[in-house]
Amino acid sequence: MKDNYDRPIISLRISLTNRCNLDCLYCHHDGMLPSNLEMTSDEIYRILKIAKKIGITKIRYSGGEPLIRKDIVDIIKKTGTLNFKDISITTNGILLNQYAQDLKDAGLNRVNVSFDTLNPKTYKKITTKNFLKEAKSGILEGYKAGLDPIKINMVVMKNINNNEIMDMFNFCKEYNFVLQLIELLKSENCSDESFNNEYHVDMEPIEKSLEKLAHKIKTRNFMQDRKKYFIDNGEIEVVRPMDNTKFCENCTRLRITPEGKIKPCLLRNDNLIDIIGPIRNNATDEELEKIFIDAINNREPFYDQ
Ligand code: GTP
Ligand code: 5AD
Repeated sequence: MKDNYDRPIISLRISLTNRCNLDCLYCHHDGMLPSNLEMTSDEIYRILKIAKKIGITKIRYSGGEPLIRKDIVDIIKKTGTLNFKDISITTNGILLNQYAQDLKDAGLNRVNVSFDTLNPKTYKKITTKNFLKEAKSGILEGYKAGLDPIKINMVVMKNINNNEIMDMFNFCKEYNFVLQLIELLKSENCSDESFNNEYHVDMEPIEKSLEKLAHKIKTRNFMQDRKKYFIDNGEIEVVRPMDNTKFCENCTRLRITPEGKIKPCLLRNDNLIDIIGPIRNNATDEELEKIFIDAINNREPFYDQ
């Protein structure tokens, strides 16, 4: 199905929880939602069936930290029965030590891991916790379990980790991980510009130097205007969500919050549509499908600051 601006909606990004075992500097902290108010795995399954019906082919689970949910393997198992093309999770990697193989066996295809540094002090500064070793070994468990590709998400921050890009790339090359360099989005907790001024890095010069090093460059279609740089035997992708026009123009995603609201746009919070209320009030499949279609029809062309 397409929205009114000819963007096909092929991907559903479901946030399973706002809870997290880290507390990152750049996190938007989407509010404290107690676990008993999160969607249950059966409710998620119901949503997945409707999503499948309207043509969604890719499912991504995110958080907070999605692996903090005790029923994560069950959720992936249920998702796996519906024959989606791609099932993935965005995680901080720590609990992959425990779950990587079970998740793979349950039908998980791949993971993106938020992993911004290889330096323990910097890891503590960014995440406020000392779990670098656990995160790294979790990533390697994912690799051993055959999750593929593994993407490493590195949010680039001034005077924090911007001098570590090549170290991280060397780590990624060793295991065939894709490195995603992510432009820092403003923290919503900061009413003034101080956060941005302190940490934001302009990605343009970084892209210019990657251009020089790359033997091949590809632009990803229909998934934001992202460039992929092929350097040596590795791959670096640059994600620039602050560049709204390009980021939004080709957005193919619908999102669901952990409390069960459809979020048509990553960068807006004023057009959420409740789906869990109707599910809990015994809505029919047709009624739920209509809610999805209405949400898609409400998608605006781009976020306009
Ligand atoms: P794939 O390329 O399919 O692996 O997904 P991805 O890299 O877009 O997803 P990931 O969860 O790894 O997010 C990386 C970046 O994508 C984030 O930092 C955002 O800038 C951007 N992004 C796009 N859509 C969303 C969204 O709905 N929520 C969040 N948190 N980030 C998003
Ligand atoms: N700016 C940029 N990227 C962010 N992420 C989380 N918060 C921010 C932010 N303020 C990234 C993390 C995570 C992905 C889902 O979003 O890298 O992996």
